[in-house]
Amino acid sequence: MITDAPRRAEDQAVTSEARQKVKVFSGIQPSGNFHLGNYLGAVRNWIKQIDRSDSVFCVVDLHALSNNPDSTLLKQQVLDLAGSYLASGIDPDRCLLFVQSHVPAHTELQWLLNSVTQFGELTRMTQFKDKSAGKGDSVSAAIFSYPVLMAADIILYDTEEVPVGDDQRQHVELTRDIVNRFNRRYGETFVLPKADIKTEGARIMSLDDPTEKMSKTSPREASYIAFSDPPDTIRKKIRRAVTDSGETIEGGADKPALTNLIQIYGSFADLTTSQVEQHFEGKRYGEFKKDLAELVVEKLTPIQGELERLRRDPDYVAGVLREGAARANTIAEKKMELVRERMGIGSFKP
Ligand code: TYM
Repeated sequence: MITDAPRRAEDQAVTSEARQKVKVFSGIQPSGNFHLGNYLGAVRNWIKQIDRSDSVFCVVDLHALSNNPDSTLLKQQVLDLAGSYLASGIDPDRCLLFVQSHVPAHTELQWLLNSVTQFGELTRMTQFKDKSAGKGDSVSAAIFSYPVLMAADIILYDTEEVPVGDDQRQHVELTRDIVNRFNRRYGETFVLPKADIKTEGARIMSLDDPTEKMSKTSPREASYIAFSDPPDTIRKKIRRAVTDSGETIEGGADKPALTNLIQIYGSFADLTTSQVEQHFEGKRYGEFKKDLAELVVEKLTPIQGELERLRRDPDYVAGVLREGAARANTIAEKKMELVRERMGIGSFKP
């Protein structure tokens, strides 16, 4: 009795601490090259808050199928992206890390959520409009229904916050509409999540065209800095990045290229735009670009080294993902039991 009492108090403290932690979910598609935008817009923010949150991070391979990838390449890219998460500092002991297709509840819930999602909502998605442009009727249904799968990913884990870049804002808004509609129809079942989008780094633009977002699937290598780029390639890409006319290091709406480079500098150096401008007062573009290139190389080199090490140890990465999937399946299956019950489907209880 005497020894039991303090243990119970300790358990209670742990439970209330766990309850205070905000539930976070986010994911990245294993398609193309993991790049600076993914790191600054997403992964770096995941790491910054990993200890104040109950975090779930996912390699969303089912989403990548909407780009029709080669199947052997996809397997490799899944391991590589998981390696990039780990190398960037996502510690599997402080979060839950797994691959989407290893947890079948995601696709089951997507189908169920289709019944509370409207055709009009999906056609209004900017990413759908961009990706389907010029494809006419041959655009795949996967590209169309992709945001419903994203909603399923998020709400299976009672997520409260979704740390993403600016381009995912609309998808999280749709998720909220789906949750509200589901809960109204079937009773309180899902937590209402919100997007967590930082002011710095949420929209990193292409280096060769600042009107376009930096993208994994861009065919123009000069447009992005990939995690796999060696230091000299990074230096060359930054040297050749387009700049605006003018002399001073000052951003602004009329200087999208320079503003983008200032954003990248500020994100890595943890400085605001005006602090970066102050730092480079009186300096020329050439000097700024040189310093920026060295900063990016300095920050990425240790991550790249760790990624190389993990590439030589795929069994370790696969082991982390297997363990993560086992834990994720337990959580997701429990949620699905409630969802099936609410919707009147699933096996009859004796
Ligand atoms: P994806 O794979 O296109 O991008 C992954 C993350 O990187 C961010 N990002 C950027 N941030 C700043 N500047 C950029 N140029 C840039 N490009 C990409 C994205 O905003 C994102 O945070 N549908 C999602 C993946 C997904 C997901 C989810 C995300 C599936 N299920 C559930 C959150 C929660 C996507 O395709 O992201």
